[in-house]
Amino acid sequence: MTSPAGPGSDIADPGLAAVGQPRIEWAGHSMPVLGLIGRDLAAAQPFSDLAVAACLHLTPETACLVNLIRAGGGRVQLAASNPLSTQDDIAAALAALPGVSVSARAGVDRGGYYQHLHRALDCGPDLVLDDGGDLVNTLHEERPELLAGVRGGCEATASGAARLRRMAAAGTLAFPMVAADQSVVRRMYDNRYGTGQSVLDGIMRATNTLLAGQTVAVAGFGPAGSGIAERARGLGARVVVTETDPVRALDASLQGFTVAPMREAAAAADVLITATGSRDVIAAGHLALLRDGAILANAGHFDVEIDVRALAAAAIKITPQVRPHADEYLLADGRRLILLAEGRVVNLVAAEGNPAAVMDLSFAVQVLALARLAGREPGGEGALAPVPADIDTAVARLALAARGVDLDELTAAQQEYLDSWREGS
Ligand code: ADE
Repeated sequence: MTSPAGPGSDIADPGLAAVGQPRIEWAGHSMPVLGLIGRDLAAAQPFSDLAVAACLHLTPETACLVNLIRAGGGRVQLAASNPLSTQDDIAAALAALPGVSVSARAGVDRGGYYQHLHRALDCGPDLVLDDGGDLVNTLHEERPELLAGVRGGCEATASGAARLRRMAAAGTLAFPMVAADQSVVRRMYDNRYGTGQSVLDGIMRATNTLLAGQTVAVAGFGPAGSGIAERARGLGARVVVTETDPVRALDASLQGFTVAPMREAAAAADVLITATGSRDVIAAGHLALLRDGAILANAGHFDVEIDVRALAAAAIKITPQVRPHADEYLLADGRRLILLAEGRVVNLVAAEGNPAAVMDLSFAVQVLALARLAGREPGGEGALAPVPADIDTAVARLALAARGVDLDELTAAQQEYLDSWREGS
């Protein structure tokens, strides 16, 4: 039987809980590390009596994270971190749980999106979990009366961490935040494998295009962009990388990718994917260069990488949803350009985000960082810190244990040698 949504929830349809519940269980089967951590959290109760305000993508994997915080004694007040990524059945299943309230509906407008962030903050958070920085930003800008009660929080993405870094530098960050994108485990697995696969999954679901033999332009060769480029090459595409950072451009070049400026890549590409964290990467000036039928997709957190306004201004006709999550822009010269997911994060809008096995590790890092912050007093220094190295090591060990993989241990002599600076040739 479906329980009604919690009193503080604002969701599309509480009746969808029965659809979401088995999807959460399915994801849980691929999240063994969270299972192992859950046992420890249930015993230690680090979140006992604490309220967590969270702004995350409403996916089955996020639901498993929320269950972990509940197991550790916490209450969670959740909002979506993107207006289009919310899975309404998952929102409904979560809203039916005790200790959880959800404010999230797929397709909500900008006003509704921020209203939902405020509802999440209404819990008077002890801790915050953010994905993109909108929750922490709203907390500082619009709910300053709540700042003194916050012990700390964790930010999932590089885009959000970049905002926090600027806040910390300006002296406006009021409590410690941990940047999960700095976690070695997260960088290796989430961006490279997770984003690499799920972005192409989103493009293929939305278009049913064959990538083999096509030219795919990937803007940005950071952890996400390099994963996308690698996977696109694995599917048989010719990959062109665009970069502004010489070190990353060199890395791409040495890995055998063609590196070119966007004006060249735009003219050559069948599919263009932005993954830079910056704005106007595909800008008005590039539109004249694009090939007929070019597919445009953004993998970055914010919808500023493709200049959608310029695209709309250049179009003589826009046909929304020629396929789910694909809009067609017809230009005066007869070319058709296909924009996916309205320029929003394509892997979470047109597909299901990163697979559960990947989010297992990312969320393990985040929940352990959050548990550590739960043990401190509110307030203090408003700094942005990397994930403590021992958390990365612990998560890697748990992931190996869950896979039944053994590793060697250093002998005492090896440890002594590695700790010493006296021994040379
Ligand atoms: N970010 C990327 N993939 C995700 C997922 N599956 N769930 C939540 N957040 C994500």
